[in-house]
Amino acid sequence: MEIKQVMVIGAGQMGAGIAQVFAQAGLSVKLNDMKQEALDKGLAGIEKRLARAVEKGKMTEEEQKEAFHRLSGTTNIEDASDCDLVIEAVVENMDVKEQVFKRLDEVTPAHAILATNTSSLPITEIAAVTNRPSQVIGMHFMNPVPVMKLVEVIRAIQTSDETYQAIEDMTKQLNKVPVEVNDFPGFVSNRILMPMINEAIYTVYEGVASPEDVDSVMKLGMNHPMGPLTLADFIGLDTCLYIMEVLHEGFGDSKYRPCPLLRQYVKAGWLGKKSGRGFYIYE
Ligand code: CAA
Ligand code: NAD
Repeated sequence: MEIKQVMVIGAGQMGAGIAQVFAQAGLSVKLNDMKQEALDKGLAGIEKRLARAVEKGKMTEEEQKEAFHRLSGTTNIEDASDCDLVIEAVVENMDVKEQVFKRLDEVTPAHAILATNTSSLPITEIAAVTNRPSQVIGMHFMNPVPVMKLVEVIRAIQTSDETYQAIEDMTKQLNKVPVEVNDFPGFVSNRILMPMINEAIYTVYEGVASPEDVDSVMKLGMNHPMGPLTLADFIGLDTCLYIMEVLHEGFGDSKYRPCPLLRQYVKAGWLGKKSGRGFYIYE
């Protein structure tokens, strides 16, 4: 099937990045958010990043203008009525995602593929709330989306081979690398990454070392581009906690228990870079 018109739901850090890479790859994209303010912020961020790409000589001014013209913003989910593909990137909460998928199932054409960028929630369960479960799939981009090459393409138990193939082809068209993964808690990426981040939080909680020193060990000792606590702040501590809860519940194994300090930070509203404070303070 040919994918021409795309909608991205949620204009936060992931949704805005996803919309940008689709527009840069020549597709027409509608970016949706329920909040006008979030939509304006998402579109402004894309404009800024495209302008910087021109400054750095990675894109011509003409290409920048064309990419931006392929993008539009809307707070109306019904505008997905002419879309071939919708990618959902709203908050990591099953109730919210199920509501969005039920509505998308009503408003999109019968042939449309519905993808989710969830970090950890069961795609099989999301697919089951629609009348087209074979056309539901996980398309898990990494943060920051314009920079990171990987897309985990996650098959729900109901996903058809046609849907999988269309999304694998689309991922390559975006100049990203697809990796096929089955639908189990945390998929591959977060099943491995999040326990490391959670353990880093435990080392701070237990007074083994400061956040700066934990990050230095992993940066200088293991050549990670960012220390785990800087990365946790960058991902969002609320998202990290949701993922640990999904792993804990999904596997029923105490090794995935979220660190109490992570819970406390989230309760305090210290969500990392996006809220101005997490393990570090941001201006
Ligand atoms: N958005 C878009 N582009 C960004 C960006 C952002 N937030 N941050 C940096 N960049 C771009 C810069 O513009 C620069 O682009 P050019 O090469 O075109 O100039 C490039 O990234 C490198 O940036 P910098 O030189 O400023 O910084 P850096 O070398 O330290 O790299 C980084 C920044 C790429 C973010 C790097 O620190 C890194 O790879 N960090 C780890 C990221 C990571 O692990 N991501 C996965 C998170 S887990 C996940 O996403 C899954 C989940 O479900 C939670
Ligand atoms: P975010 O908080 O930056 O953005 C979420 C956006 O969704 C907000 O702008 C919010 O207004 C909007 N929204 C909420 N409910 C909505 C609805 N019903 N309809 C339309 N818009 C709605 O979150 P994020 O970090 O961009 O994460 C989004 C999704 O991507 C989550 O499922 C998360 O787990 C996943 N993810 C996050 C990362 C990461 O590093 N942050 C990486 C990969 C995947």
